[in-house]
Amino acid sequence: MNKNIKCLISAGPTREWIDPVRFISNPSSGKMGYALAEEAFNRGFSVDLVSGPVHLEGPQGVRLHKVETAIEMEKTMLALFQDAQIIIMTAAVCDHRPRECWEEKRKKAEFPTHLEFVENKDIVGALSERRKTGQKIVGFAAETETPLQHALEKLEAKGLDWIAMNDVSDKEIGFGSDINDVTLLSRRGESIPLGRKSKQEIAKGILDHIWP
Ligand code: PMT
Repeated sequence: MNKNIKCLISAGPTREWIDPVRFISNPSSGKMGYALAEEAFNRGFSVDLVSGPVHLEGPQGVRLHKVETAIEMEKTMLALFQDAQIIIMTAAVCDHRPRECWEEKRKKAEFPTHLEFVENKDIVGALSERRKTGQKIVGFAAETETPLQHALEKLEAKGLDWIAMNDVSDKEIGFGSDINDVTLLSRRGESIPLGRKSKQEIAKGILDHIWP
């Protein structure tokens, strides 16, 4: 019954290049997003997974779209968005990219002491501006301080139906870990703690609530 429902999930980090051998990024391993894609496929959904560079195999049966930069992720998500009913933005998109990317490797002596950055587009915000009736849009909030306040602000500012809040100041969960500790917040005011569990179990909890 779910096979006509398309699920679009993003995972992993983005890379923002400084020159051909250097980039800025973050420690996202893709585990949370890949667990969601696998669980969605197991529930019979048709799944597209847009992934930044990670060391994971694409889950069986899932269409994997590999990207590197935030701009590439934005383009791919926008192209797949129209046909999707469930959109889950797990990726840790770099908020900024260097203003300039040099074509050749900068020599040590020429390397600047300061870099200028420009903001990347808010991908999930751009998707929610284009939302069609019936689409469910879910974001994640990776917070290190006052997680509830910041997650609620993101839920509102990005126009989401749900946000999965994780406190990444806790080094045992979140980035790179096999476990996570997530509270799901909805725009209707629900707050659902999913507990501290494997990312596979967290994925089940998220899908149980967003698409019961
Ligand atoms: O990959 P793992 O190692 O398994 O780690 C999982 C995780 C910690 C990466 C994951 O659980 C998580 O929290 N993902 C979101 C990370 C993040 O970028 O959070 P944020 O609070 O900065 O962003 C809020 C939301 O906006 C996110 O849904 C993000 O995908 C989205 N965003 C952010 C910036 C941007 N330019 N465009 C976006 O769409």
